[in-house]
Amino acid sequence: MTATTPLHCVSPTTWVVCVIEGFDQFLLDHAAAEKKAAGMALSMLSHYPDRARLVTAMSELAAEEMVHFREVVKLIQERGLQLAADEKDPYVNEIRSWIRRGSEEYMLDRLLTAAVIEARGAERFALVADALSAGCLRRFYQSLARSEARHYELFLDLATEYFPSETVGSRWQELLSAEASCVQALPIRAALH
Ligand SMILES: [Fe+2]
Ligand SMILES: [Fe+2]
Repeated sequence: MTATTPLHCVSPTTWVVCVIEGFDQFLLDHAAAEKKAAGMALSMLSHYPDRARLVTAMSELAAEEMVHFREVVKLIQERGLQLAADEKDPYVNEIRSWIRRGSEEYMLDRLLTAAVIEARGAERFALVADALSAGCLRRFYQSLARSEARHYELFLDLATEYFPSETVGSRWQELLSAEASCVQALPIRAALH
C-alpha cells in the first residue's frame, strides 16, 4: 500500500478490470454511492446538532458529495443512460453493522466507519483513474480520489477532536483490519463495492 492510504489491503486487480468492462453499470452504482454519502453526512449532523464543528463539516461534506453526484449524473446522461433505483450496498451495510451501541462508542464508530469507507473510496477511484486512458474521465476520477482522501482525514480528525487519541487509534486499527477481511470477501462486480 502507498504511504497515503491507511488501508490494510489493496483492492484486487480483477475488480478494476470488471469496472472498466462494465463502466456504464459502474457509473450508476457510483452515482448512488455519492448520493448515499451526502445522506450520511446529513444524518450525522442531524444526530449531533450540538457539535458545532461537526455540523459545519458535515454540511460542507453533504454539499460536496452532491456536487460529485451531479457530476456523475451528467456522465450518465451524456451516455444516454438513466439512474437506477438504489440497491443495498453489502460492503457499507456490513461496515455499519460494526457500529457499537452506547453514546460514546456509537459516535466514535460512526466517525471511524465513515473514515474507512472514504479511504476505500479514495483507493478505488485512484485505481479507476489509473486504468482509464488520459482525458477528462481520468482527471475526474483523480480529483475524486483526492476528495475522498480528504474526507477520510476529516472524519479521523473529527474523531480525535472528540475522543482521546489512544482510543481513536486502537479502534481505527481494529476497523481497518476488519475492513480488509470484508473487502477481500466481496464478490467482484462493476460497482464501487
Ligand atoms: Fe464523493
Ligand atoms: Fe466522500
